[in-house]
Amino acid sequence: MWPYKLQCFDCQREPAAVETGLRCKTCDGLLEVKFELKGKKKPSWDHRQVSVWKYRELLPIENEESIITLAEGGTGLHRCTRLGRKLGLKKLYVKNEGENPTGSFKDRGMTVAISKAKELGKKKVLCASTGNTSASLAAYSARAGMECIVLVPKGKVAGGKLLQVAMHGAKIIQVKGDFDQAFKTALKLAKRRRDLYLMNSINPYRLEGQKTLAFEISDQLGSKAPDSVILPVGNGGNISAAWKGFTEFQQLSITKTRPRMIGIQAEKAAPIANAVKRRENKIRLVYNPQTLATAIRIGSPVNWPKVLKAIKESKGTAETVTDSEILQAQRELATLEGIFVEPASAASVAGLKKLRANMRVDASETIVCVTTGHGLKDPSVLERLPKSRTGYNLEITNRTNLDALRRII
Ligand code: F0G
Repeated sequence: MWPYKLQCFDCQREPAAVETGLRCKTCDGLLEVKFELKGKKKPSWDHRQVSVWKYRELLPIENEESIITLAEGGTGLHRCTRLGRKLGLKKLYVKNEGENPTGSFKDRGMTVAISKAKELGKKKVLCASTGNTSASLAAYSARAGMECIVLVPKGKVAGGKLLQVAMHGAKIIQVKGDFDQAFKTALKLAKRRRDLYLMNSINPYRLEGQKTLAFEISDQLGSKAPDSVILPVGNGGNISAAWKGFTEFQQLSITKTRPRMIGIQAEKAAPIANAVKRRENKIRLVYNPQTLATAIRIGSPVNWPKVLKAIKESKGTAETVTDSEILQAQRELATLEGIFVEPASAASVAGLKKLRANMRVDASETIVCVTTGHGLKDPSVLERLPKSRTGYNLEITNRTNLDALRRII
């Protein structure tokens, strides 16, 4: 690990004023890990396999023995020629984060944050979640031998995710209300109970793991940053972490350029995309956010200042998509490219379709859509598939009539 410091994202104050808590002691701003990269050269890591820990020099873990891992990262960057052709795009890629150990991008952040928790001597970890964070935390805390408590919005978490949390033995607290209320409660709990370490994306160490998404994309493209990266946005941790990653690679002269960062939100849960559209530098909270993409059903995203800065600095943008656009994109990605992702993840593809239709991305651009979670996480989508997709019924009898089948196949 290279030397780093914790710094306030807003007032830039350094360790004297900032403790290892989750917000700046002086101005209550978000915290950020800062590596001093001036004059540094790329570490000799080319022989290492692509994975989160390939980049350990740029991860804030002091002691390699503290590392808790399930082999995260190293996910596929898939060239999508069939979908690309349909959208009139020459170089379209999908970075499929569903290939991570618990089936979502959260594992990148969790391996680092749980390792940090171990280094800090923590025994109990806590998060609020729309599903994936809790599934990931439950797995990593089990591996670390730590106690895990998760707060989830009652009745609004996809079945696969809840099964994961229960299977790994975490304590599940179902909160009446939505994610925003669950997160508020988790924050209060973490403030009052110093023995509980909060692992949401307000935790700056978690975002360090998530920045490796950008490192991998650049490596997989041959030390080149793409022109545009499109991600679904909920709390905004992932898009801002990816921007930090692209920035660090450019500072180390591994890549020459940085991509436009494009965030996609569901139409009725879009505080950040709406602020970008209105050209405002603050978000307006969305009360009672709605979308079938439950992973990103968030009206009060904690990382919004980081997201707005990333989008502005990168000359990026944001867009909203409807639930039916999300479902259509999910099916297209599955049928044209063999990549099955959960609804929130398909928002990035749905957003790309909309941007392309409005001529806001060029045919020649290198575009990476990040798909954040595996399709099996949310089996409820089966009920929303068109009848033609759910199969024909065939009754087998002694005299099964193959002619009946011939009409179908
Ligand atoms: N995609 C999926 C599949 C997610 O689970 C999430 C967030 C996002 C995108 C948005 O990422 O918050 O970094 O902007 N899920 C969180 C959770 C909120 O609790 O699992 P973000």
